[in-house]
Amino acid sequence: MADPRDRAHTVGVRAGLDKRPADVAAMFDRVARRYDVTNTVLSAGLDASWRRATRDALAPRPGQTVLDVAAGTAVSTVELAAGGVHAIACDFSQGMLRAGAARAVPKVAGDAMALPLADRSVDGVVISFGLRNVADPDAALREFHRVTRPGGTLVVCEFSSPTWAPFRTLYTEYLMQALPRIARAVSSNPEAYVYLAESIRAWPDQAALAGRIAGAGWGDVAWRDLTGGIVALHRARRS
Ligand SMILES: C[S@@+](CC[C@H](N)C(=O)[O-])C[C@H]1O[C@@H](n2cnc3c(N)ncnc32)[C@H](O)[C@@H]1O
Repeated sequence: MADPRDRAHTVGVRAGLDKRPADVAAMFDRVARRYDVTNTVLSAGLDASWRRATRDALAPRPGQTVLDVAAGTAVSTVELAAGGVHAIACDFSQGMLRAGAARAVPKVAGDAMALPLADRSVDGVVISFGLRNVADPDAALREFHRVTRPGGTLVVCEFSSPTWAPFRTLYTEYLMQALPRIARAVSSNPEAYVYLAESIRAWPDQAALAGRIAGAGWGDVAWRDLTGGIVALHRARRS
């Protein structure tokens, strides 16, 4: 008898660039089963170093509480949880949270734009490869500010814009041509990786995102490029 999960190889589910929450959650539900391995293949193993850099940017201290928004399978949360940090995974895709069930961190279902947390209840918020998928990123950034204690930190790890023009051209070619082809061989929902490429191209560059973070009330906004700007880490403080 056919494994019903294999239907996902032939029936793709993808969100549009309007990022309607129900479509985004459904798309990630269908990506979930092979999400971690697809990430590692498509990033040529760089994802692990991007996660370590995200933790270094947050620099959480033992005993602090950190919220990992859009945590998916909690692969980003376990990196934050080392050394006595209380890291909580939050995502609105039940499929992604279930796929990460074996990861021993607390998990909560919730929307980045209406977090199920009290005001000023966490020391830091991280969102890795998530903000680009949120229907209203500015509302989410304001919500992260609401739940963070004064003095707390926000780290946004997101695909960005390579700074060297020839590299940017090559990378765009990879995104639009090679990446969807590789995803067809590896992912449980290859259509989602067409969305991935398009959503990266439509996303604000480093300076524009910094402006959006500041516009949501965050101070001391700064960023650092990783892998030539394929990824940018933005950090900000709550006053
Ligand atoms: C590309 S995955 C990132 C997962 C993980 N943070 C990582 O670094 O691999 C994006 C995640 O964002 C979640 N997401 C998108 N919009 C969301 C929202 N409004 N609220 C909560 N989660 C959201 C999706 O369900 C998905 O699990």
